[in-house]
Amino acid sequence: MAANKKLVFLPGDGIGPEVMRQVSRVIEWYDRRRIASFDVAEGMVGGCSIDKYGTPLTDETMAQAAGADAVLLGAVGGPKWDNLPFAQKPERGLLRLRKDMDLFANLRPALVFKPLIGASTLKPEVIDGLDIIIVRELTGGVYFGEPRGITTLPDGSRRGVNTQVYTTGEIRRVARVGFELAKKRQGRLCSVEKANVMESGVLWREEVQKLHDEEFRDIALIHMYADNCAMQLVRNPKQFDVIVTDNLFGDLLSDCAAMLTGSLGMLPSASLGAADSSGRRKALYEPVHGSAPDIAGKDAANPLASILSFAMMLRYSFDMDEEAKLLEAAVVRALETGVRTGDILQPQTQRVSTTAMGDTVLQQLDKLA
Ligand code: IPM
Ligand code: MG
Repeated sequence: MAANKKLVFLPGDGIGPEVMRQVSRVIEWYDRRRIASFDVAEGMVGGCSIDKYGTPLTDETMAQAAGADAVLLGAVGGPKWDNLPFAQKPERGLLRLRKDMDLFANLRPALVFKPLIGASTLKPEVIDGLDIIIVRELTGGVYFGEPRGITTLPDGSRRGVNTQVYTTGEIRRVARVGFELAKKRQGRLCSVEKANVMESGVLWREEVQKLHDEEFRDIALIHMYADNCAMQLVRNPKQFDVIVTDNLFGDLLSDCAAMLTGSLGMLPSASLGAADSSGRRKALYEPVHGSAPDIAGKDAANPLASILSFAMMLRYSFDMDEEAKLLEAAVVRALETGVRTGDILQPQTQRVSTTAMGDTVLQQLDKLA
């Protein structure tokens, strides 16, 4: 059996803890089956950390996460903390993890599982077989650009400022991730910006094109404006293979792509840093959905995005592609049995709890292994 892998588990707020509980059970299953063994340390991020320590992420937890082989995060935020000053909001904890670990490449695959075709609001033929991946830049752009803030003008009115900023280095390193992924897939990359109105977009387009011409001539590269991309995603999503885009557009487009698959509750993500000399990358895995305070604590949330995030961890952090496929197959089989959490409920399916969905995935793992 492979040596112990050091994981840091950050369940966070809202539905985070309950969906992550199901991931723990999956991890225990891999342990029990002696497929992989993990040392799991648990920490706090977001509102729960604010309540306990007065900050959305303590330096200790930050250091622990930075030292781990991989971090698994649930969700952060909720109405209880909505009125806090900006720098103290739960979301700052997540943003600090991304920034301090330099997790610049956020992979958000949108995959339509056959049993869920009917759960999408789009026509079945539009999404049948859909398999795209959005690579979102995660540590730059308007999320972190300076200057930022709200100031009061001499006439008493106020002014809010954020800055969209990218350097060639930031663009090239995330574009490279996009090209390399495309190489392993259908060989097509769509780079998305607003070069028609933003200088940062012009630079983005030029740098991605340059990198293509220098190193990735075998990849079919196209450029698209972000607004058009949003439209194309719902019009004909199968035209895409890999999309690479900035932090803000990636945030928007990945929610849009998620809904093609039927529910935000199905979408996993991986946030990766640069590879070190031994080829290892710092990494954080999290479901794309948020903390869903309205259903928190009710054992009603969909744990599959979190479980699929763990599958991404097996693949990207530990090079365990077979084991990742096993888990993904168990998720499909679980859906085939007809069980559904509320977010993916359809006629003729059975509504189940978060825990029962976890049970079903474990049963299918037992059958497949
Ligand atoms: C996401 C979320 C976050 C973001 C929030 C929680 C800060 O929407 O991961 O997509 O905007 O990046
Ligand atoms: Mg988002």
